[in-house]
Amino acid sequence: MKVVHNRTLFRGLLVALVAGACMACGGNQSKDSGTAATVTDTPETVEQEPPVLTAGMTAGKAIYEQNCVTCHQTNGKGVSGLNPPLAGTDYVTGDKNRLIGIVLNGSNVGLEVNGAVYSNAMPAHAFLSDEEVANVLSYIRNSFGNRADTVSAALVKEVRALL
Ligand code: HEC
Repeated sequence: MKVVHNRTLFRGLLVALVAGACMACGGNQSKDSGTAATVTDTPETVEQEPPVLTAGMTAGKAIYEQNCVTCHQTNGKGVSGLNPPLAGTDYVTGDKNRLIGIVLNGSNVGLEVNGAVYSNAMPAHAFLSDEEVANVLSYIRNSFGNRADTVSAALVKEVRALL
């Protein structure tokens, strides 16, 4: 990248920051309008450091993208009023048996998640194998800013037998 000859070092840094953080902005470097508004946009692009995923979690991510993403969204934030978030909820990072039960059985009881109730129903996902449930849960417990230990296929099998 060539050096930007701007009047102030601050401005040069700003251009470099914006260009570095946003690929689409790269071409506008010579024609930048210099508005201060870009300063507030910059931190937004520094979100979601991808976590280090184990092989099981990577497989779980694919399960998530096939079965959960339409409702709970790529960022795990859900859809306001309809589908609850998976980011920062006790249902996700807390008791594993309860979590497995929600995925296998679905849920339509108007769960209260972080102080809000969501009007959609979650369908049962009992068609997923023990390993698929374990992987998708290990994935969501370690995504969207969540950190919790993994779920084993053996535990999914145990919970499934009790349902
Ligand atoms: C059709 C939309 C839909 C799909 C698909 C779906 N969910 Fe849900 N999910 C919901 C709704 C709605 C609730 C709240 C249900 C209630 O209120 O009883 C929920 C609740 C949850 C909860 C407990 C509450 C929370 O937000 O922490 C978890 C965990 C969860 N879902 C995980 C999953 C996983 C994992 C998948 C994919 C295997 C999935 N969901 C697929 C709509 C969906």
